[in-house]
Amino acid sequence: MTPDTLATQLLTCTRRYTGLTPSGNPQLGNLIGAIRPAIADADSTETVVAIVDLHALTVEHDARQLAERTLRFATVILAAGLDTRQAPLYAQSHVSAHTGLHYLLEAATHYGEAHRMIQFKEKSAKQETVRLALLTYPVLMASDILLYDTDEVPVGEDQRQHVELARDIAIRFNRTYGDVFTVPKVVLPEVAARIMDLTDPTRKMGKTNAGGAGVIFLLDRPDEIRKKISRAVTDSRNSVAYDPDNQPGVSNLLSIAAALTGTDPELIAGDFAGYGALKSGVTDIVVEALRPLQVRYAELSADPTTVRGILADGAHRVAERADRTLNRARTAIGLLPA
Ligand code: TYM
Repeated sequence: MTPDTLATQLLTCTRRYTGLTPSGNPQLGNLIGAIRPAIADADSTETVVAIVDLHALTVEHDARQLAERTLRFATVILAAGLDTRQAPLYAQSHVSAHTGLHYLLEAATHYGEAHRMIQFKEKSAKQETVRLALLTYPVLMASDILLYDTDEVPVGEDQRQHVELARDIAIRFNRTYGDVFTVPKVVLPEVAARIMDLTDPTRKMGKTNAGGAGVIFLLDRPDEIRKKISRAVTDSRNSVAYDPDNQPGVSNLLSIAAALTGTDPELIAGDFAGYGALKSGVTDIVVEALRPLQVRYAELSADPTTVRGILADGAHRVAERADRTLNRARTAIGLLPA
């Protein structure tokens, strides 16, 4: 590549940002919805990835485990292949501009907008006491995204509404105070934007789903994966077809296989003669897809100092842009410069 084409590419480079909350344990949905899309395009985009540890404080959490979980999530993302020479990886709480911008954005967000968020409704309904941070969390997420002049946010379907809120906040802020923020857009995986729980294909596969029997965790052993998939809920038709409305369990397994092999769920349905063949085929695909990640994880987790060094370097590299955006927002909203 000539210096000229390199310069043009840098000038036109799309900025991508994604985050993972270090609660529970990383699962297949996180890999397909966020980690893989971030890694796949890291050399053609300017990608930033964060372990958004402050988001883990929105529901009851174990303070003794949070730091260790943050490190574990970072290690998993590195093990999945993120090249941090291209794409910085950092812990959200290490960059103070996130909370600085959060407050300014709260002043540009309406209570009704935050209250309308589906995740807030679902999570708050399950709790006796609801932390205020759970209500305002999508505004912190908007702050994560907007600090880095982000064009695209690769996420799973469950986060689409939050990214749309970030977009609305950016547009309103710009209209009221002047052009401060890039307006981001959501990027969903083409296949398997919403992987479902294996034991209940009407609900999302999630890091903290009770029991974890329907969740494939990225660090599950092959025998655990085999057991979970063999017990996955299907239906009584015994016809392998991609039909999410009528055959949600079977379609979910097909989506997982298609996403991991880069194919189409409708196309690969014909590869499996019945549910037994489908389950064993999907098991092999998942086990093979996770094997290199798990091998690399075992190596990296033996060296937490290196992982902490990578996070510190990432925070250092992103902080300058974040501070610049925060200062622009502070000035635009009318605060006296310090
Ligand atoms: P989190 O930590 O719950 O999930 C991390 C990413 O994984 C995706 N995901 C899924 N995708 C497909 N199928 C599933 N079953 C599935 N489960 C999870 C999520 O959509 C997400 O992309 N609020 C966010 C983290 C966040 C963030 C951000 C993301 C904070 N700030 C800024 C993007 C940009 C969250 O809790 O995701």
